[in-house]
Amino acid sequence: MKTNCCSPLLQLLFGLALLLGLAKPDPDPLQDYCVADNRSPQSLFLNGAPPCIDPNRATASDFATSALSRPGDTLANSAGSNVTLTNTVNLPGLNTMGLTLARIDIEANGFVPPHSHPRASEVTICLKGELVVGFLDTSNRFYTQKLLPGDSFVFPKGLIHFLSNADERLPALAVSGLNSQNPGVQLTSLASLATTKPGIPDEILKKAYQINGVDVARIRRNLGG
Ligand SMILES: *[C@@H]1O[C@H](CO)[C@@H](O)[C@H](O)[C@H]1NC(C)=O
Repeated sequence: MKTNCCSPLLQLLFGLALLLGLAKPDPDPLQDYCVADNRSPQSLFLNGAPPCIDPNRATASDFATSALSRPGDTLANSAGSNVTLTNTVNLPGLNTMGLTLARIDIEANGFVPPHSHPRASEVTICLKGELVVGFLDTSNRFYTQKLLPGDSFVFPKGLIHFLSNADERLPALAVSGLNSQNPGVQLTSLASLATTKPGIPDEILKKAYQINGVDVARIRRNLGG
């Protein structure tokens, strides 16, 4: 008789356990809070952030920030958008909580180019204007949706997504929550063709995109690389 080690049910349970393990957000803190110590110069970093201050020295202002109160400069780049994030510097009380809040300002006709966050899922709410958002899954399916003020949309962890202002005259505003204090971001076009130092060799890009050296140089230049 077969042992039940490989029964479909057990396989399913093992599979689920594995999946849940991989889907874990940032690790749980071992204390109520760990206000990042940004005041003294640090040589020691825990999870990329300075160590915590003495919890008895924490004040309400450590848990508050106005970092997202003003729009970012959307004219400083060709995409016409600017993303302002909370982090352990402007909101030290957020340290170890596994959370980030993002303010996303997008000019008329502007967009946040396709990008992914290796360490976080993102849920966004449209507060002003009209947004078209979308993401690609690993089966090459494309999910897209138009958002009006009050509408929300989820970008699953690690998947390439974008936000675009569908209005030709008015700016749009969205706010996102991400389930990591350090979500990380890779802009698909910029990472592969412009900002990475040293860049991916032209030979690889020519084969990957089926283009010639002139095209590679032109796209690099257009993207400011
Ligand atoms: C976003 O806006 C800030 C100032 O509000 C500016 O310093 C920064 O360069 C802008 N970022 C981009 C990518 O344009």
